[in-house]
This record gives sequence, C-alpha cells and structure tokens, in this order.
Amino acid sequence: MSEVDFQRKPVIAGNWKMFKTAVETRQFFKVFNTLVAQVDHCEIVIAAPFISLEVAVEETAGSPVQIAAQSVHWEAQGAFTGEVSGPMIRAAGCNYAVVGHSERRQYFGETDETVYKRTAAALRHRLTPIVCVGERLEEREDGKTENVLTRQFIEGLGSLTVEQFSRIIVAYEPIWAIGTGRTATPAIAAEAHEVLRTQAAKRFGEDIAAGLRILYGGSVKPDNVSDLMAESGVDGALVGGASLDPRSMALIVNHSGESF
Ligand code: 13P
Repeated sequence: MSEVDFQRKPVIAGNWKMFKTAVETRQFFKVFNTLVAQVDHCEIVIAAPFISLEVAVEETAGSPVQIAAQSVHWEAQGAFTGEVSGPMIRAAGCNYAVVGHSERRQYFGETDETVYKRTAAALRHRLTPIVCVGERLEEREDGKTENVLTRQFIEGLGSLTVEQFSRIIVAYEPIWAIGTGRTATPAIAAEAHEVLRTQAAKRFGEDIAAGLRILYGGSVKPDNVSDLMAESGVDGALVGGASLDPRSMALIVNHSGESF
C-alpha cells in the first residue's frame, strides 16, 4: 500500500465524556484557544457533552478548534427520549460526532448494528463520524484482537458506500488502555491500525484505505503522544482524561507535530 503518497492530516481529538458544565467549558476555551491559536499541522476536535455544544461552538468561533458531539441518533427526529439527532448537532454548529465509544457499547447497549446506523446518520447530516473500535483485555489475552477488530469493522462499517467511508475517521481504542494509565505501546497501536487499514483496503480499495485517518485512544498524555504519532499508521489521538485540562491538551496537540 502506498501510504506515503497520501497526505493524511492528523487529528487530535479530545473526548470530555461526562465532564464539564457550560461554565467550565467557557473557562477551558479561554485558556486553550490562546495555546493552539497558530496550530495547523493537525485538526483539533473537542467532543463536549450535548448540553455544552453550543457554548463550545461559540467559544471556538474563529479558532482552529472544531466541536464534536459524543454520539448521534440515527433518526432525524422522533420519540427517542434522551437521544440527540444529526440535524440538532449540525444546528448547534458541530462538524463531527464520536460514534460507538466503548463506554456506549459497555453501558448503553451500543452494538455494531447501532454503530452502523449512527455512522450513516452522521454522514447524512454532514457530520464527520469518529468511529471507535477496540478489544477488551481478555480478548487481547486470548489472541482475539484481530478477530474482534475485524468483526467491529465489517459489521459497523462494512455496509457503508465507498463515498461514505471516505468521509469517516476511525479511532482504535483498546478498552484495557482507557482510563487505566496503561497506554498501548506504539508497536501495538501500529499493529492494530494495520489490521483496520487492511480491512479498509479489502472492502473499499487501496486508495481509500491509504487516505483513512486512524486515531489511537487510551491513556494518551503529553509525554507519550510523540512516540505514538511517530508510527506511520497512527494519524492522531483520541484523548480522554488528559483533554480536560487545557494546558495538557494543548501540549498533546503541539507534541503531535513533533514528528512531522
Ligand atoms: P483516556 O485518555 O482517559 O484513557 O480515555 C480514552 C478515551 O476513551 C477517549 O475516547
């Protein structure tokens, strides 16, 4: 695969999960904006809770920072208590949506099928989906990582059209590395990304696969991001805990450019 021929702009995304009120969101961006104002070596995305999306969009107007929702429903509207739709997220000014995070899969019944439906809905409403996949610790220990990633890829993304697939971002987040301080080594991340890129090539063609951005997520910190990003198949990071502090997130954004 001629990866080197393709420019994949890195993406450094923060996933705030269920943290930060609207006031705390404003406080974050007051500091963060000044630290990343000149960045253009990567796309910067922050996934804020639904209730803070409009505030986050307002605070980042004119900055390089883009705002994401943390999920998106597959219907445009309807009787789906507690859910938020693509048109609502677009209307709030977002351009991205995280889909299929392992916490949604683990605690809220998200399946490969709902991941597919949410991904397709995001695309329909011109949101770039950041689709998360990743294996559990016991699956890794049983040697099933490749099978799990392949299944998640085929069942969650395999039915997209080539045109749809060309607009998504994938995030590899091994569950054992999330919030544990146990980061995957760059080699482990690179190997998993290669499994995903190979699947992408099989289903959507070499060129599309070579253009696919695959982020790594799981205990990314300012001091490990450059080593991860030095792997040619790692196109960015999806950062949880370390994205909550504007200085630490800015360090990650800035260090992600060191190997470029
Ligand atoms: P941590 O960076 O806190 O491990 O979280 C990773 C994650 O789940 C991002 O979506």
